[in-house]
Formats: sequence, structure tokens, C-alpha cells
Amino acid sequence: MSELLQRVAETQAILARIARDFSPAVFASSLAAEDMVLTDLILTAGLPIGIFSLETGRLHAETLAMLDQVRATYGHEIALFRPQPEAVAAYVANNGLNAFYDSVEMRKQCCRIRKVEPLGRALAGKRAWITGQRRAQSSTRSELAVQEFDAAHDTQKFNPLADWSEDNVWDYLRSNNVPYNALHDRGFPSIGCEPCTRAVQPGEDLRAGRWWWEQPESKECGLHVVDGKLIRMTSVAG
Ligand code: ADX
Ligand code: SF4
Repeated sequence: MSELLQRVAETQAILARIARDFSPAVFASSLAAEDMVLTDLILTAGLPIGIFSLETGRLHAETLAMLDQVRATYGHEIALFRPQPEAVAAYVANNGLNAFYDSVEMRKQCCRIRKVEPLGRALAGKRAWITGQRRAQSSTRSELAVQEFDAAHDTQKFNPLADWSEDNVWDYLRSNNVPYNALHDRGFPSIGCEPCTRAVQPGEDLRAGRWWWEQPESKECGLHVVDGKLIRMTSVAG
């Protein structure tokens, strides 16, 4: 069996087990490449796993266009969670629309309002959530487990692509004709909000274009908090 087929089989087994043993479970999709792999695997298998995106109000048009692509390809409507309008209005009135460039604290505050609080609503009442994180994406993810306990949301958290390489992701997308965000062909390996993401140069890290003005250690948005209660397992297949 090729490396890709092996990875696909493992990930299919993990997703099937989540659907069977951790219902209700949801998948958080940023609509970027990794998340299109998981979208395709979940929807083609007809698994009872809800898919949602955090629509921060600052996403690229190309990212929002993926919502239509998923509808056209799979006949599936991705659920959207948006920030509370009053919280956004207060942040903008007090600090300005783009205050996230001023300090790490201002940036984290914006991410809290536009991503972390809506994530809490998306995960309310769920037994598990799924992400498209991979170990090879950054130094902060090199220890990523396939299954963790997310104490912040009191729920299981699964990273079924933890072992996948960048090549595995693109081999899967191309060989299965899965739609993907047009920005990937313009030098964006990692895609977040429009003002906080830029293209990378050849040889730069995959996440070098995310919050590029910050130091690598601070470059997480608060969706993926790792704390002392983390439970590590190498695999949940079977
Ligand atoms: S992050 O720093 O923004 O969290 P990244 O873009 O690498 O990092 O995304 C990692 C995972 O977080 C994605 O695979 C997805 O599961 C989740 N995620 C990130 N952004 C969003 C979003 N806007 N909506 C839903 N899930 C998201
Ligand atoms: Fe705000 Fe940038 Fe975080 Fe998006 S990535 S929520 S615009 S700070």
C-alpha cells in the first residue's frame, strides 16, 4: 500500500470511530487545504459529523468562495459561526479596525473576539471536535497528538491529519479532484484572516506568512490551547 493510501485508511478509521463513539462531533474547517481533505473524507463517507467555519468577518474572498465550492461539489452547507457584533464594534471603536498590528495582546484580543468566543459556541454540547492541524506545520505543533483532551472546552479533540506531510495533503487533493482555495496557488501555504496572512517566499516556513510581524512562539490564535491536562495518544484507530 502506498504511503498516501495508508494515511487515508488510518484517517478514515479515526473519523469513523469519532462518529461512532463521540457523537455529537464536529469538524472545524478553515477552508484551507488540510481541511478540504477532511471535508472530502467526511462527506464522501456520509459520516454524521457536522462541519463549521468561524467566519471572522476578515476572511479573504477566495476563502469565502470555498463555501460555494463545497455546496456545488458535495451539496453540503457549511455552518458559520460569527463574532458577536457588539464585541467587534467595541474593539474597533476603542482600538481601531487593525489594532492587531500594534501588539501581541491587541492581536490576541481580536482573535478572542473573532475566533475563540465563536468557537466556544460551536463546541457547546459537543463530545468531540476535529481539526486539520499537522505536526509538520510548525515548531509549536511538532508534538501534536491524534487525540487530546481539550480542557478549555471540556471535550475530546482529534487531529486526524497529525501524521500527514504537505505532499500527502496535495497528493490527496489532486488525485481526488477536491476543490481548494485559490490562494494556495499564489504562495499561501497557510491561510487565516486576510490582514494577518501573506504569501511566503520559497524555502520559508509554512506558517511564516501568518502574523508575520510576530515572533514564532506567539503565532497561535487561541483555538488550540495546549495545557497541563493534555492527554496524549498516538492513535485511536481500531
Ligand atoms: S490557526 O492558528 O488559525 O488555528 P491554522 O490556520 O493552521 O491555525 O488552522 C489549524 C486548524 O484550526 C484548522 O485545520 C481548523 O481545524 C482550525 N481553524 C483555523 N481557523 C479556522 C476557522 N476560521 N474556522 C474553523 N476552523 C478553523
Ligand atoms: Fe483578528 Fe487577525 Fe486574529 Fe483574524 S487573525 S481574528 S483579523 S487578529
